[in-house]
Amino acid sequence: MTTTPVRDLEAQLSALLTEAQVAIAAADTLDALEQFRVAYLGKKGKISAVLGAMGKLSPEDRPQIGAKANEVKQAVQTQLDHQRNALQQAQIQARLEAETIDVTMPGQYRPQGHRHPLNSTIDKALDILVGLGYTVAQGPEMESDRYNFGALNIPADHPARDMADTFYLPDGNLLRTHTSPVQIHYMENNEPPIRIAAPGRVYRRDAVDATHSAVFHQIELLAVDEGLSFTDLKGTIEEFVIQMFGEVPIRFRASYFPFTEPSAEVDVQWKGRWLEVLGCGMVDPNVLSAVGYDPEVYTGFAAGFGVERFAMVLHQMDDIRQLYASDLRFLRQF
Ligand code: DAH
Repeated sequence: MTTTPVRDLEAQLSALLTEAQVAIAAADTLDALEQFRVAYLGKKGKISAVLGAMGKLSPEDRPQIGAKANEVKQAVQTQLDHQRNALQQAQIQARLEAETIDVTMPGQYRPQGHRHPLNSTIDKALDILVGLGYTVAQGPEMESDRYNFGALNIPADHPARDMADTFYLPDGNLLRTHTSPVQIHYMENNEPPIRIAAPGRVYRRDAVDATHSAVFHQIELLAVDEGLSFTDLKGTIEEFVIQMFGEVPIRFRASYFPFTEPSAEVDVQWKGRWLEVLGCGMVDPNVLSAVGYDPEVYTGFAAGFGVERFAMVLHQMDDIRQLYASDLRFLRQF
């Protein structure tokens, strides 16, 4: 069997087509496909190499090989396009599958918290007082002797100091035993008329039991103005207690506090018993003088109450320690 250069080139082109078809069909990435395109159809590719040999042919034979080469190029190109399409489709499909959201998966559960009964009691009291025209004020928990005692008409040897033994710090300061020192801070920095409600933490050197805690919370009330009298105090406290506890019977009992004169304690009737809920009185002239107010011009009234006591009465708790135990079984009830 004789071969001519034309036949030879034709055979080479046919072989290239078969080889390319097998290679392209096996290409499994777009990168691999691009490499085959360059290898077969590129300027320095295998088909170009065959055409380079056309110089050996007679001019009459060249068109035949040219036509065959175009046919092969066309077929390779068609198959490349087909394979590229298929690979791109597969890529899109894989992405869609990877990115689907399974709406039947279980959700992530995060328990929702709520306010602690002490905070909700403070919030409720402050809401009422703000409604009555009071502004919320605050003071430091570490105080000097003057703010906690002296300026509140409790001099160094006063027996009232025994009622409120506290924690003394090495530098002579102390942890405040009540929120009353906020009265002094506020009056020193402001002029009458004054209407403040001061919530905060206070400290006592008390043994902890069902009704005592070494750390607890109070809210202090102070009003100073020209012409305030005991009737203003009574009306304010009655309105506050009614909003806090509802329409309960309420009584004022004469009492004693060094920083007020006259002083009273207020009881509410709650579940058939009289319960003491707060202390109050007309600001003692000595306290007004201590902050540089003229007691001949200004009068004032003040009150102080324990937040824990309010919370325990409102929610019928019998042990103050439950309020600090962070026991969720207890706290979830409120
Ligand atoms: N500071 C007092 C205490 O801790 C409570 C109190 C009573 C505050 C009468 C007052 C008041 O402002 O007028 O027990």
